[in-house]
Amino acid sequence: MPQPRIGITGATGGIGGRVARQLAERGVPLRLIVRDPARAPKLPDAEIAVASYADREAMIAATTGIGTLFLVSGFEAADRLAQHKAAIDSFVGAGGERVVYTSFVNCRPDAVFTFAHDHYYTEQYMTVRGLAFAALRNNFYADMVPRLPVDGAIRGPAGNGRFAPVARDDVADVAAALLIDPAAPTGAFDVTGPELLTMADAAALLGEATGRPVAYVKETIEEAYASRAGFDAPKFELDGWVTSYAGIAAGEFAVLSDTVERFAGHPPMSLRAFLARLG
Ligand SMILES: NC(=O)c1ccc[n+]([C@@H]2O[C@H](COP(=O)([O-])OP(=O)(O)OC[C@H]3O[C@@H](n4cnc5c(N)ncnc54)[C@H](OP(=O)(O)O)[C@@H]3O)[C@@H](O)[C@H]2O)c1
Repeated sequence: MPQPRIGITGATGGIGGRVARQLAERGVPLRLIVRDPARAPKLPDAEIAVASYADREAMIAATTGIGTLFLVSGFEAADRLAQHKAAIDSFVGAGGERVVYTSFVNCRPDAVFTFAHDHYYTEQYMTVRGLAFAALRNNFYADMVPRLPVDGAIRGPAGNGRFAPVARDDVADVAAALLIDPAAPTGAFDVTGPELLTMADAAALLGEATGRPVAYVKETIEEAYASRAGFDAPKFELDGWVTSYAGIAAGEFAVLSDTVERFAGHPPMSLRAFLARLG
């Protein structure tokens, strides 16, 4: 029997692209669901379908004949939850059955980290729509850490809270393992790095890796909003930026798990190892 074709959203992005390449290397037929076909990775036996999550007709066409879908959470947007719900409705409407979704650790409706709310409601909605799904509740991406300093300092209201940065490579390894196995378990899985670090630890590791010292400056919530006011970002985005630190202070990111080892078969990368690879 031919191997079923797996649908991959976000294939033009960091995680979706990694997952698509891994599955293609293993000979899995794919359908890459992208908004811009010119940026879709060129892979063997990979069909290209053009769809945005909110475009019902295009998403139904893109997912018809697909039983298992990798649903990458969209860019943070005020209507992101509506986009996710539309994508889920289309997939269900097209007869889809199983989803692997990129969620967030401790996603709850009352999470301090506001971007986690969409993830909670997206997971709930997949349950309501009767989908079998594995939610990868990812910790803070290690890949984001080098982008945090501004003028040599990471500034934010993370206090002495701890987080477990996880490399996108490791997240992709877990996603690929779950997608390829039709009997893979469903449920919510925390996906974390191997160690709990404070933001001061992360700053020190970043300084060590780059040879340029990085400070961690603790801000109050008010100072955090004030120092970001110049970006002229919409409120939901400012809230997300500030509460990504405040969520760490509140302990929401202080989660360690064995998910990478369990599904990918190797230990997760430490932040030090991740940063060393950047050269
Ligand atoms: N855990 C963390 O620390 C953390 C940090 C940042 C983001 N995230 C979340 O994790 C997700 C995956 O991470 P990543 O690094 O792979 O992000 P990424 O490189 O920005 O890729 C996101 C992908 O999703 C696609 N996409 C976004 N909105 C879409 C929509 N409405 N319809 C169709 N496709 C859409 C993008 O398509 P285009 O190329 O067409 O734009 C892109 O391919 C992010 O999208 C975000 O939700 C988590």
